[in-house]
Amino acid sequence: MSKNKRQTLAYRMQPAIPAGLFFWLKSWSQLRRLRKKLIRGKEVRRHTTVSRDIYENYGPWEQEMYLHGQEYTTCDGKIRLVPFTRIRAGYLAPVKTEIERQLAAAPGQRLRVLEVGAGNCINLMLLNEAFGDKIELVGIDISPKRLEVSRETWGAKLDGVDLHVDSATELATCADRSFDVVFSMHCLEQVPYDAGSAVRAISRVCRGRIVFVEPVFEFGNTAQKIYAITGDQLRTLLPEIAKAGLRVVESYPLDILAHPLNKTGVVVVEV
Ligand SMILES: C[S@@+](CC[C@H](N)C(=O)[O-])C[C@H]1O[C@@H](n2cnc3c(N)ncnc32)[C@H](O)[C@@H]1O
Repeated sequence: MSKNKRQTLAYRMQPAIPAGLFFWLKSWSQLRRLRKKLIRGKEVRRHTTVSRDIYENYGPWEQEMYLHGQEYTTCDGKIRLVPFTRIRAGYLAPVKTEIERQLAAAPGQRLRVLEVGAGNCINLMLLNEAFGDKIELVGIDISPKRLEVSRETWGAKLDGVDLHVDSATELATCADRSFDVVFSMHCLEQVPYDAGSAVRAISRVCRGRIVFVEPVFEFGNTAQKIYAITGDQLRTLLPEIAKAGLRVVESYPLDILAHPLNKTGVVVVEV
């Protein structure tokens, strides 16, 4: 039997919990959390600076987890142990699809691609590997330390990639309509109360399409919706896109989730 077949078989045979049962149990624990939060009346409000301070102290653990780790996640309708490399491939696929679509539409043209909240730079490293000279990659993040750690970790794999310290809510380092593809992956979730400013800043610098890979409240089941409230996650992406007057080309929930309660969706927008 080939190595590939053995791995596929091992994956199918591993103990996995039906997602329906998992989420039913989680609804109850999330409801208890919500009750506590309401009784205490304590409000946690995550703003830009809160998130920056957390990420400044991250070090390279996310990059190490990506290379060597695995996580219990929602995948193929079950909760099962999945390597981070596979999870990441699922999250990055919509971005790759958009880049491939634009490259096919304008052969020979070098696309400019921006990641907002690039952080660990795993996405930029993978896109650099996949597309090389066909695209020009830029990443911004609010945390200088995080970009520094990523440069050290990935070394030559980030050659040619521009990294800047900037806020998603401003994008002061980016000129108007200067990117063909702009994407954010779980960055807007960090600024739940400033998502409108981020959507407007992103649409200002984009001349093509935006791919949001972010929590989408409307796609969540009961447990995921309560988690979005108790965890103070982003809950207004679709309304903010509508308010900014942007046209949604497609939107759908991701099947594979790094955190089963954090419901990620893909929203592709044309400016
Ligand atoms: C959950 S991580 C996601 C990182 C990366 N996009 C990924 O998919 O692995 C969120 C990132 O957003 C960054 N971030 C938080 N608030 C930000 C803001 N206002 N502007 C830019 N980046 C921000 C954090 O520093 C962190 O690197």
